[in-house]
Amino acid sequence: MANTMLKVSGLKVAYGGIQAVKGVSFEVNEGELVSLIGANGAGKTTTLKAVTGTQPAAAGEIQFLGRNIKGQGPWDLVKQGLVMVPEGRGTFTRMTITENLQMGAFIREDNEVEADIEKVFAIFPRLKERRNQLAGTMSGGEQQMLAMGRALMAKPKVLLLDEPSMGLSPIMVDKIFEVVNDIHQRGTTVLLVEQNASRALQLATRGYVMDSGEVTMSGEAKALLNDPKVRAAYLGE
Ligand SMILES: Nc1ncnc2c1ncn2[C@@H]1O[C@H](COP(=O)(O)OP(=O)(O)OP(=O)(O)O)[C@@H](O)[C@H]1O
Ligand SMILES: [Mg+2]
Repeated sequence: MANTMLKVSGLKVAYGGIQAVKGVSFEVNEGELVSLIGANGAGKTTTLKAVTGTQPAAAGEIQFLGRNIKGQGPWDLVKQGLVMVPEGRGTFTRMTITENLQMGAFIREDNEVEADIEKVFAIFPRLKERRNQLAGTMSGGEQQMLAMGRALMAKPKVLLLDEPSMGLSPIMVDKIFEVVNDIHQRGTTVLLVEQNASRALQLATRGYVMDSGEVTMSGEAKALLNDPKVRAAYLGE
């Protein structure tokens, strides 16, 4: 049996009177790439925020590595290996590429940070070329690479990606999905939130479909890709 890394049960999140997440359950096992897909406003980002401690959960359980983490703040969770690349990237725009990567390792106390920056540069040669450039002057695709590189610097046990392909050109979308696949193949467990359902499910082991704050379907990624309801609603067929 695979090790369950992240287990969410009956999660509810509200913004004032608005129920954005209405009892969501899912799990991510060691070595998996799990895709969470769904339309605008389905509650995907809200779910990730609750899991990573940036939005309080109104109800439900959240377990990471077998421990209850509900109520813990983002820094504590990053230290334990639960690391998110937020929607819109959130790079430090007035810092250089290298400084952003160093910030990603802020919580670490080992001596491998410089070596790991080189590993990130090996994954993203573009970042190496621009290592002294301010993050705010980089293109959208480059900033997405930087945000992913920075997250890798925290040595994630589970990496949560919120719409990494959003707003990027087709070539950059290809590149980003290639790197997500590469990060997964190298052994990182990934939870990938995407509106590009087709691409996300092609890479995934399993998937969950969210609609109006609820998980409406789940299963093997290939089965979801071939499901007529999923194809009609999310793959534009
Ligand atoms: N800070 C907030 N205050 C009030 N309502 C919010 C807030 N953030 C999100 N919502 C609402 O919660 C619902 C879920 O939003 P969420 O951002 O989680 O959706 P999403 O699935 O990530 O959508 P998208 O694909 O467009 O990013 C939406 O109806 C949204 O308007
Ligand atoms: Mg979102």
